[in-house]
Amino acid sequence: MGQTNASSWQLIELQSMGDERGCLTALESEKNIPFAIQRVYYIYGTLPNIRRGLHAHRDLQQVAICVAGNCTFLLDDGYHRQEIVLDSPTKALYMNSMTWREMFDFSHDCVLMVLANHHYDESDYIRSYEDFRRLVYANYS
Ligand code: TYD
Repeated sequence: MGQTNASSWQLIELQSMGDERGCLTALESEKNIPFAIQRVYYIYGTLPNIRRGLHAHRDLQQVAICVAGNCTFLLDDGYHRQEIVLDSPTKALYMNSMTWREMFDFSHDCVLMVLANHHYDESDYIRSYEDFRRLVYANYS
């Protein structure tokens, strides 16, 4: 695994508050989650050999946490690619706007929770990798 690309994505280690009863992790807007949370969704019951995501967002920050099980993210900012395994409820993956992501290798028990800083907006999606690359290079060249 290469270096995390700090501007496009970043791993956040969440605190686990454990005692003899078990564990608890808290998520708070603009504290351990670096934006005001407007939406939460979760992906579960994913069938074997399924690849999800395959898109980027024009203007959306997200944090993904595998609250149960594990899955792998492929992240791509148009210049660098990195695979990150989410396998702990204390491992949060922050993704900035204009990050291409694909999710795969879901364990049968995987519950992938995603926090977002905007409500759902289909027009914010870039679903073609070629369009994504074109937009990245148009903005930065
Ligand atoms: P989709 O974007 O295909 O999921 P992924 O990219 O993670 O594989 O979303 C599946 C369906 O759920 C699609 O019809 C859009 C809908 N949806 C919402 O209504 N609200 C949401 O917040 C999200 C993420 C998806």
